[in-house]
Amino acid sequence: MEPGPGPEHGPGLGPAPPRWGPVACVLTGASRGFGRSLARLLAPRLGDGSVLLLLARSAAPLAELAAELRRGAAALRVECVAADLGTDEGLRRATRALRELLPAAPAARLLLINNAGSLGDVSKSFVDLSDPDEVNSYFAFNVTSALCLTSAALKAFGQRPGVGRTVVNVSSLCAVKPFKNWALYCGGKASRDMMFQVLWTRTCSSWPGLKPGTPRCGSTSRAFRRAGS
Ligand SMILES: NC(=O)c1ccc[n+]([C@@H]2O[C@H](COP(=O)([O-])OP(=O)(O)OC[C@H]3O[C@@H](n4cnc5c(N)ncnc54)[C@H](OP(=O)(O)O)[C@@H]3O)[C@@H](O)[C@H]2O)c1
Repeated sequence: MEPGPGPEHGPGLGPAPPRWGPVACVLTGASRGFGRSLARLLAPRLGDGSVLLLLARSAAPLAELAAELRRGAAALRVECVAADLGTDEGLRRATRALRELLPAAPAARLLLINNAGSLGDVSKSFVDLSDPDEVNSYFAFNVTSALCLTSAALKAFGQRPGVGRTVVNVSSLCAVKPFKNWALYCGGKASRDMMFQVLWTRTCSSWPGLKPGTPRCGSTSRAFRRAGS
């Protein structure tokens, strides 16, 4: 996508980042933490006609962020959906929003950032994890929802000639290195890593334009820039 001129920056803020063309961007876990910061960094880079969909459970912080981003970029459509991605109903609501927004989005790229994640109860050792409901609920949010949202987004956006689709998985060192008492987190991150590797290796050829990106702890910003550029 051709970079355009960046937006106005205030004094002392350095050169404006180059802007992309119109992007259909979906960001999970946007209400706080890394996702919220990322939304603020991303918004000025999204060209006129872009759509940004913010997802998380907490409606108020999402709405505040959406209003802030709209004030900063009049030509950017910002939507937010409050949904618990660990539940069937929440996942359905998020998927519905993808199906409403993405097919009509006039975008030169799809950028889907699977950022939302949770640590699980790290006070529990491995042998304390004997409640299947607790384990299933952890994986429903951290693994199932990332897979289902990604597949729904790719389908809803569709294949468009010359249009790139970038899928980012925000990962962790815990995906490749075991940490004591972090069975859920390590297991979830490892599972997500492999799942997205399957997407990238098995479907890149049948989904032309699909670009991978798995930022890990320590190299997140560099990897993200590479994946999103
Ligand atoms: N922080 C670190 O040091 C670190 C290191 C390596 C990797 N990471 C990864 O980076 C990503 C972001 O981490 P972070 O530190 O920014 O996390 P965070 O501050 O805990 O934020 C997590 C985000 O996910 C959302 N979320 C949590 N449960 C949800 C659910 N059931 N349904 C929908 N959304 C939900 C939260 O919003 P609501 O509560 O409003 O739903 C929030 O927006 C995660 O994938 C994490 O594993 C973090």
